Amino acid sequence: MPIISLPQSFNEEELYIDLRSILGCPLFLKCEGFNFAGSIKLKAANEMVEAAERSGVLTPASILIESSSGNLGVALSMIAVSKGYQFLCVTDYRCNHSTRRLMEALGSQLHVIAEPAPNGGGLLGARLAYVRARCASDSRYVWLNQYTNPHNWKAHYQTTAPAIARQFPHLDALFIGAGTTGTLMGCARYFREWVRPVRIVAVDSVGSVAFGGTPGRRMIPGLGTGVRPPLLDESYVDEVIRIEEVDTIRTCHHLARRGFLFGGSTGTIVSGAIRWLARHNTRGLTAVAIAPDLGERYLDTIYEARWLQDTYGEDLRILDEQAERELATSLRGATSAVRRKERIL
Ligand SMILES: Cc1ncc(COP(=O)(O)O)c(C=O)c1O
Repeated sequence: MPIISLPQSFNEEELYIDLRSILGCPLFLKCEGFNFAGSIKLKAANEMVEAAERSGVLTPASILIESSSGNLGVALSMIAVSKGYQFLCVTDYRCNHSTRRLMEALGSQLHVIAEPAPNGGGLLGARLAYVRARCASDSRYVWLNQYTNPHNWKAHYQTTAPAIARQFPHLDALFIGAGTTGTLMGCARYFREWVRPVRIVAVDSVGSVAFGGTPGRRMIPGLGTGVRPPLLDESYVDEVIRIEEVDTIRTCHHLARRGFLFGGSTGTIVSGAIRWLARHNTRGLTAVAIAPDLGERYLDTIYEARWLQDTYGEDLRILDEQAERELATSLRGATSAVRRKERIL
């Protein structure tokens, strides 16, 4: 029985969903949303704060400041308030309403950027410029900087990757979403040194420039970036798959119809995994994808009919018809697989 006295002391590290009966392809989904911050960012936040405390950069007089699309902001809000630090989160208008409310409920201050940077870099560029200006104006500000801080990827090198390795000693392929690329780089570095080769597949959203390409509109926070991630070392990444937001939404709704309510990143990562698995021989293959958070924070976006209609318009109608067809096909596939198995038994 886990008993804790600090919110950051609890994290469910060992929960996986077997998606075979839902998707018709072999995929285990590692669920990272079961902690008091509700996302995988708890690990990066914890590690970065503890490292800053160890080095003496962070003192009781400090004010933490960070740019976040939401989940790191919630994790830092929780850790900051539990340790007695002030925290200012710089986010932008795409940050979910409930995520903003969570940060405020945890006592954080919020600054919401409404316009992209005038000279490129998009909304993230504008967020970073604001953080830099605040740091220059007051020496009490401490910017952990999740985009460049090595403790971001080290958190996953020390926890996420070894946890997967423990449960899946025959792992062949790992699907990881890319935001700051902390999760990606921590896991990729760990498995590069591991006992067997693992295919590291990064999943990004169309319109993100993490792996190059032209920037485009992205409305779902968490995954993808308007600025090349400084933590990214592409030599550790075997493949990159880019997913359209309509596919993300289709997969989120597909999972929700089976009772699993996940956030947008998970929809993107699972879409990427489905696409990859459809192109490969999956006989005897062990594949894992990482789900960074759960779906409650996306009720007013991904799971809200009006938002979907306003954001994706006509694409959405196509999506609905396609989603119904795909769901029916995948369920038929899963049912006949079960029947085949029953006949064999
Ligand atoms: C929902 C969600 N998706 C994806 C990511 C990307 O993770 P990383 O920044 O480690 O690349 C995060 C991290 O905050 C997240 O919260």
